[in-house]
Amino acid sequence: MEISFSAPPPPPPPPPDAACTVVTAPSLVPAAAVSSSPPLPPQQQAEAAVVAPSPADEKVLVSVEVLLHATSAARHEDVQVAVERMLEARSLSYVDGPVPIPADNSYLLENVKRIQICDTDEWVENHKVLLFWQVKPVVHVFQLSEDGPGEEPGEDDTLSSFNEWALPAKEFDGLWESLLYEVGLKQRLLRYAASALLFTERCVDPYLVSWNRIVLLHGPPGTGKTSLCKALAQKLSIRFKSRYSMCQLIEVNAHSLFSKWFSESGKLVAKLFQKIQEMVEEESNLVFVLIDEVESLAAARQAAISGSEPSDSIRVVNALLTQMDKLKSWPNVIILTTSNITTAIDIAFVDRADIKAYVGPPTLQARYEILRSCIQELLRVGILTYPQGGSVPCILNYSTLKEKKHCPEAVEPHGALHLSSLLYEAAELCEGLSGRSLRKLPFLAHASVANPSCCDASTFMHTLIQTAKREILESRG
Ligand SMILES: Nc1ncnc2c1ncn2[C@@H]1O[C@H](COP(=O)(O)OP(=O)(O)O)[C@@H](O)[C@H]1O
Ligand SMILES: [Mg+2]
Repeated sequence: MEISFSAPPPPPPPPPDAACTVVTAPSLVPAAAVSSSPPLPPQQQAEAAVVAPSPADEKVLVSVEVLLHATSAARHEDVQVAVERMLEARSLSYVDGPVPIPADNSYLLENVKRIQICDTDEWVENHKVLLFWQVKPVVHVFQLSEDGPGEEPGEDDTLSSFNEWALPAKEFDGLWESLLYEVGLKQRLLRYAASALLFTERCVDPYLVSWNRIVLLHGPPGTGKTSLCKALAQKLSIRFKSRYSMCQLIEVNAHSLFSKWFSESGKLVAKLFQKIQEMVEEESNLVFVLIDEVESLAAARQAAISGSEPSDSIRVVNALLTQMDKLKSWPNVIILTTSNITTAIDIAFVDRADIKAYVGPPTLQARYEILRSCIQELLRVGILTYPQGGSVPCILNYSTLKEKKHCPEAVEPHGALHLSSLLYEAAELCEGLSGRSLRKLPFLAHASVANPSCCDASTFMHTLIQTAKREILESRG
């Protein structure tokens, strides 16, 4: 099944800064009805412009991720129950973002670093609210592995042939949230992968229903494909923690396999797959194998056939592909691949990938949100200051800006709306730039301001616009 994301869906909602706001219409449902099955007043439902299904048995499942402190020794089940109770006791609307821990809950304060609501963006699209009584929170408790990547050192100065991480890893914390696409792309990837794991789990007969656990993300360079693969593995490791007690990510360094010591390459492949094999044999392990830029494998094979590369490389590539083909039959393996080319790739295990997604350059909204996250970070660390030394509210998110742009009474010279409009101008100019280039833009702009030690946000926005114009000109040659 192909999911193509080239045609963006309608503009998504703002990613709000705080996840939970106390519901502003408490009269909708009596507080006492929260944990039972609240009757749904249809009239009021319409007033609240609610989109979610409402009867108790059709509640919307919303993931709530609970990160424990590194030092916490609390049982995950206990924390889960404590968080469920805490959520039940509060009348919240559900939107993506952090949930503050109540000051009087010493157990949670002691053990929990962060509680975060996830995946509501499709529901809250167009400002529709997901209210507490429509939601069944699904609480995932996890702790981050702080080990960092384990590398398999190459012999004789060769590059290492793979990197390995225990998931969820500290290194990838926040990566998923930092990747900004049109609404739905990340959720669909997550759902496809989750369905594939569920089918495996329930032993669905593959002769009757066919599916596989191969993901291919393709599109131009710098659009976040590699990052998205790693972030997806991290998310799945959190969501499937209760089923798989251990999760690992192995990043195969395909380039290193074509080192100049081809005689070593065969050994490297064998060693790599022996290691993966050991991992997958343990059924409580979930193993992600990432092969970045798979087209390089096809290209190397082609080059060997045409004689421009040592013929040994064909053996190495074929050995790797055969091993991958074998690996995909294991139920607890997900193979993640990326490609910078959009044409068909001549590699058997990839062309049958069920989960194929085109990842293109960011849309206007994504560009705006990427730049906004950069500016907010520079404000946070004090590299940028608010105009006139004040502390103007943060820069508006995309949807709020779109709304406010049309009400002139909101304009104030150096306020949030002013800054946001300048940022919008920069985002408009950046059409065609990759996410990677966009994340560099504020740095380049800063490097060209006259007085880098004291830079107010408003002046900076103008420099950002100039820098964007320059980059666009350069990118077009
Ligand atoms: N859509 C996006 N949203 C946010 N950041 C992005 C996006 N696309 C790219 N980036 C940034 O660019 C960096 C490089 O992306 P990468 O995963 O290496 O891209 P690719 O594998 O497609 O070449 C990412 O770490 C991220 O910071
Ligand atoms: Mg990449």
